[in-house]
Amino acid sequence: MSNLHINTYEAALNQARLQTYNLLEIADREICDIASRAPGKLKERFEAVIFPKGKRIRSILLFLFAKSGTAPIDEIKTARCAASIELLHLASLIHDDVIDLSETRRGKKTAHTRWGNHMAVLVGDYILAKSLSLIVKNENNRVTAIISNTAGELVAGEVLEIDNQGNLFLTVDEYNQIIYGKTASLIEAAAEIGAIQAGHSQEKIELIKDIGRLFGMAFQIVDDLLDFEFGAEEVGKKSFTDIGNNVMTLPVILFLEKSSESERSEFKDLTLNNLTENSISRITSLFLEKNIFSECRSIALAYLTQAKANLSLLEDSPSRKLLIDICSAMSYRCN
Ligand code: FPP
Ligand code: MG
Repeated sequence: MSNLHINTYEAALNQARLQTYNLLEIADREICDIASRAPGKLKERFEAVIFPKGKRIRSILLFLFAKSGTAPIDEIKTARCAASIELLHLASLIHDDVIDLSETRRGKKTAHTRWGNHMAVLVGDYILAKSLSLIVKNENNRVTAIISNTAGELVAGEVLEIDNQGNLFLTVDEYNQIIYGKTASLIEAAAEIGAIQAGHSQEKIELIKDIGRLFGMAFQIVDDLLDFEFGAEEVGKKSFTDIGNNVMTLPVILFLEKSSESERSEFKDLTLNNLTENSISRITSLFLEKNIFSECRSIALAYLTQAKANLSLLEDSPSRKLLIDICSAMSYRCN
């Protein structure tokens, strides 16, 4: 991936951050405040996992959709929604890193690498609990229900992924169900909650919710691609983790669909033991031969094109423009 492409994505997010700066600040303060009130040693562990901050793409989308209407929004409540979503996301990542045995996240040692699995699971549990008690403060049952249901979707997606590790017959439909659960559901929730905060009609809320889902599906496919091709310096996590863990990502599924019996069995042998530089390079060339990465990109692009088509149905606003830019930049990200 060229620097130009990284910069395009970062630039789009930075523009959106500028536009939503106040809300991001309020949400950050809320998160820091909750961490500072954690009892005993939980406080230092909580504070350790909130830095460095992630890209906060879910918050940014929530805020842009919240600002896509005409009425003024309740800034405190809107920021609280985003803080709750970021905490839920953080809790799920801490647990995910335990499951994936990942050693780095956001360029830093993961929680379980620092404190062991037991403590990492408990820190994640505490953060999940705080995400839920925070959203209750808004006294909006609809939004509380979205966040708690989405917590269930994340778990269900992750369980389905684990149950299918190494399942060489997993279909694209089943894969879509997994990535909807583990990733797109939370981005969809962020978009829907933003639309609710904006006071949009139910019809608009459904449209915006769908934009979140479409963007979320593309987001995970790009994440699958990044695991293969790019990695460490940009995303702060090790590459080839998915394939090393026998996770059935889109490139793997498409490759297996297009393979002969002998190619399948070569792939199986290559991924049976710990990956080496040689096995990684062989897998990469097998995938390149079959145009797998381009095909994955095309699928991600189709989601993003549909997301932009839905965005074009919203009233013109600075937020809508930024949302379109983020979708376009996401397309470049997997170029
Ligand atoms: C990352 O996928 C995984 C998620 C975003 C969801 C993980 C969900 C759970 C562990 C369920 C537990 C949930 C709660 C509510 C505590 P990935 O491994 O493909 O991405 P990565 O490359 O960033 O690790
Ligand atoms: Mg992971």
